[in-house]
Amino acid sequence: MVFREAVDSARIVTVLDDYAGYETSFLAQHGIAMLIEACSNGACKRILMDTGQSALPILHNMKLMDIDPSSIDAVVISHCHCDHTEGLVDTLKAIGRKNVPVIAHTSIFRPNYVFKPFIRNIGVMKENGREAIEDAGGLLVLVDEPFEIMPGVIATGVVPRKRDFEKQGIGTWNLDDGKFTPDEILDDLSLAVKVKGKGLAIISGCSHAGIVNIIDWSKELTAESRVDVVIGGFHLIESSAERIEKTAQALKSLDVGRVITGHCTGLAALSEFSRALGGRFEQLHVGKTVQL
Ligand SMILES: [Fe+2]
Ligand SMILES: [Fe+2]
Repeated sequence: MVFREAVDSARIVTVLDDYAGYETSFLAQHGIAMLIEACSNGACKRILMDTGQSALPILHNMKLMDIDPSSIDAVVISHCHCDHTEGLVDTLKAIGRKNVPVIAHTSIFRPNYVFKPFIRNIGVMKENGREAIEDAGGLLVLVDEPFEIMPGVIATGVVPRKRDFEKQGIGTWNLDDGKFTPDEILDDLSLAVKVKGKGLAIISGCSHAGIVNIIDWSKELTAESRVDVVIGGFHLIESSAERIEKTAQALKSLDVGRVITGHCTGLAALSEFSRALGGRFEQLHVGKTVQL
């Protein structure tokens, strides 16, 4: 399946990140939330990807940026982890409409366990579960496959994992029928926005599928070779120096125009990207805005 259409323009606004930015009044939190405004034929749609651990900093930051939550047309959840999902219901309440599409993978509500430093479920909690989402006005759209949210804005669905150096998981577990099995975070999805005359903007939550796999897949899905910007968390915070270096080299050889990353990317990767990519690298922070 190839999605060939493109939007006329797009704007991506970071409404939540782990870093508030230098000399800002924004609130930071371990989590991420990105607002994507995509425009075609003079009409714009606003899609919020991810909702942090709580809506409080998101709504505060949006207010400072003059973004009215009621202007959000749909919410995409990149994967089940609580630093992306636990602000969902309160954000939907702030949006204040019925039948707001909430787009995620079919397995989004599975419990997702970690054992360090102590056993806990880092997946979606009951307060942001199916019923609570629907009560708050959300219309669940649960999908495994890539699809168009609107022409030119594509949810990647399950990302094929082909790059060797991105195979390593992050050590979360599923619990089914009394058995723990390693979880591959297959629900990890990203957004690819194809902009006329520019190329792709790829927006990721944590990139548990691997950021290079995500770029490869987004290019294939859209038949677009130019990647103008990649923005989001890359989850390299616990990765080996070797994986970080290979990621930096791949971003370089794929000729990505701008690499803007933060959240769970980690200091070692940020410094390697800065060294390897020079002016093409920027640190993510609340308020960071990209216009295409
Ligand atoms: Fe995360
Ligand atoms: Fe995550």
